[in-house]
Amino acid sequence: MRKLNNILVTGGAGFIGCNFIHLLLQKTPDFFGRIVNFDVLTYAGNLANLADIDLEFGGRRYFFEHGDICDRRFTEALFTKYDIDTVVHFAAESHVDRSIFCPGIFVKTNVFGTLALLDTVRNAWKNADGSMRDDVLFHHISTDEVFGSLNDTGYFTEKTAYCPHSPYSASKAASDHLVFSYHHTYEIPVTLSNCSNNYGPYQFPEKFIPLMILNILEKKSLPIYGNGKNIRDWLYVEDHNRAVWLVMNKGKSGSSYNIGGENEWENIALLYKLIEIVSEKIGLDKDSVLGTIVYVKDRSGHDWRYAIDCTKIKSELDWKQSVDFEKGLSLTVDWYLSHMEWIENIRSGEYTRWLKRNYGSR
Ligand code: NAD
Ligand code: TYD
Repeated sequence: MRKLNNILVTGGAGFIGCNFIHLLLQKTPDFFGRIVNFDVLTYAGNLANLADIDLEFGGRRYFFEHGDICDRRFTEALFTKYDIDTVVHFAAESHVDRSIFCPGIFVKTNVFGTLALLDTVRNAWKNADGSMRDDVLFHHISTDEVFGSLNDTGYFTEKTAYCPHSPYSASKAASDHLVFSYHHTYEIPVTLSNCSNNYGPYQFPEKFIPLMILNILEKKSLPIYGNGKNIRDWLYVEDHNRAVWLVMNKGKSGSSYNIGGENEWENIALLYKLIEIVSEKIGLDKDSVLGTIVYVKDRSGHDWRYAIDCTKIKSELDWKQSVDFEKGLSLTVDWYLSHMEWIENIRSGEYTRWLKRNYGSR
């Protein structure tokens, strides 16, 4: 078991990062350390996600630092200021559709940003004799999309060759390679995890599940790309973060771990399920909601199927999923229903303008 005391969480104001901070500070009784949330607050980063954390732990065990992972001077100062011994690197541009329209920012943040962070770590964690400290850890958060696309059968394992297809997954693949190259070359202790599609509270409503929940609530059309038969493997965000925490504590340095839901759904089948849950909760006529489904032009280069084999993390680290999908979807819908103000706030800015520019009104 590693000692993880002063943790720098990059991208902690985004969807998975803020859930990670909630998990560590509110639901992990054997964690006594400090968390520094380092985020530049793009359209996807929102400090309201952590208002309760700031109130309870701010200035004692939780700190926010507004800055860019590409800015080495700023990052270096954080290592000194907080005596950082652990990094968990969530910060990224994360949406495939955006990467198709604007690939450059994905390369800047995901590739150059990760490189800058690794260089900072390499300097900050050097012993006086030039060797690398062994009581530190860089955990890199990655995606199963680096492996490319599956046909109707088979699974991604940790040994599957990288074959990214979108600018998003290509930039994440590049960052994964950089992380391992810095482990091999400079001996930085690293672990890495490749996870399938997450869902849960605080997810920005450009991704499939929150977008569909909100469009159903607002009686907007429900856009399905292509024939709707593409398959994703869905995992509740807290189960992902529990796995990340386990890997950080007990994972082998230099290793990657696949994390997945073992929960494959065709997009259209998942949409039917969401319609059923939302309609029942707020008393909508299910048939009229079904009538708002619109099959739209397919995403360019749309990956067919993702499915994770997570035997390694299950057998080596004794992890398992704990939130059943039906229950997780119900919790997620309840969360959005009780956070309409959050939705209004995040929609009032850049997001709305970007959607209009690229898609017209949706
Ligand atoms: P998100 O888009 O919700 O959040 C990203 C966060 O990073 C935001 O708070 C943003 O402000 C911050 N950020 C962006 N650029 C930054 C920069 N230059 N400096 C500092 N902060 C910056 O993303 P997410 O869905 O929470 O994903 C987090 C990580 O998990 C990403 O690395 C993503 O590739 C990976 N991942 C996501 C999923 C998923 O289903 N969402 C699945 C597997 C892996
Ligand atoms: P998304 O949530 O963007 O995640 P990813 O592309 O990283 O898997 O999309 C999940 C699936 O849903 C993917 O196959 C694309 C599809 N999709 C739609 O059919 N309609 C939509 O409006 C969106 C956003 C996604």
